[in-house]
Amino acid sequence: PICNVLVCGGAGYIGSHMVRALVARGCTPVIFDNLSTGHADAVDAAAPDCDLVRGDLLDRQALRRVFAEYSIDAVMHFSARSLVGESVREPALYYANNVTGTLNLLDAMREAGVLRLVFSSTAAVYGNPVTERIAETHPLAPVNPYGASKLMVERMLADHAAAYGLRSVALRYFNAAGADRAGGIGESHSPETHLIPNILRAVLGTGPALTVFGSDYDTPDGTCVRDYIHVNDLCDAHLAALDKLLAAPVGTAALKDGLTAEPGEKGALYYNLGNGLGFTVRQVIDAAARVTGREVPFTVGPRRDGDPARLVADSTLAGRELGWAPKVADIREIIETAWAWHSDQKY
Ligand code: UFG
Repeated sequence: PICNVLVCGGAGYIGSHMVRALVARGCTPVIFDNLSTGHADAVDAAAPDCDLVRGDLLDRQALRRVFAEYSIDAVMHFSARSLVGESVREPALYYANNVTGTLNLLDAMREAGVLRLVFSSTAAVYGNPVTERIAETHPLAPVNPYGASKLMVERMLADHAAAYGLRSVALRYFNAAGADRAGGIGESHSPETHLIPNILRAVLGTGPALTVFGSDYDTPDGTCVRDYIHVNDLCDAHLAALDKLLAAPVGTAALKDGLTAEPGEKGALYYNLGNGLGFTVRQVIDAAARVTGREVPFTVGPRRDGDPARLVADSTLAGRELGWAPKVADIREIIETAWAWHSDQKY
């Protein structure tokens, strides 16, 4: 459907991929981003004709202005601080940006009568897993402020559904990775903390040798297991979520329908997004060596605080209710797309 989508955080890694996917779908994205971790160059490369409004979610007037200026049908919200370690050291930053910022966004949306939202959540809402694969029914027990801040927002979304008729889909990402094959956009953080970019930068010599954080975990080779999901697959799930939101009534009309009463048709939906495959850090290093044809320089260091041994998604629900299935599930293929970006990195 033709649709104007406000993309908060559209200059970031996942957001810029989303902007490109929205344009390809015939939607008109408008980006709201403070460029604290995002890149104007990413917007230029993803969608040169798309408006970038430089603004902060903590600036309520700036939010009001963007909703006054544009006719927005739905919001996708990628703006957040997202590093576990940083969240432990600076929780105030996380609660301000991720919780207060989102509350400001919800206020501005409600004032403008915009009641459809796709929200970027995370596997970190579960805390330390108590099952092999994590389904949405797994206990919610975040072990760091980052995960706690995302879970607080999910709770706000449920309360906003019941009281105001907001419809939302929270997508709980596992480890986002890779880059769009069309080129020009990719993962670029400063400092970079994520595994695949750190491996590729070590290979290219644009970053230091990799440190493997711990090899004494209770996993097949002692290193942590993660579920890597291609960024374009994440975007596909957002488009499916958007379609679902656009097809349903919102606000008082939705409340009259008993928005929160119907099982499976609640106002605030949430889905895991992962491949359901787990790879150890060592396996990712080996795959990267094969993809790049080069040695990956690395040393083994101590564990990093807050890293669970294993995080693997059960995404059955997203398959069933969103009709979603990942297309790039092979770790080598995911790394290939990241490698293409890193060897030709533009920003
Ligand atoms: N790792 C290294 N060396 C590095 C970087 C990472 O060994 O230089 C290891 C980590 O210890 C971890 C794995 O590689 O075992 C993946 O680490 P990332 O930093 O790439 O990603 P995380 O698993 O820490 O983060 C993901 C999501 C977060 C989410 C978190 C939940 O990106 O949003 O899982 O723990 F909060």
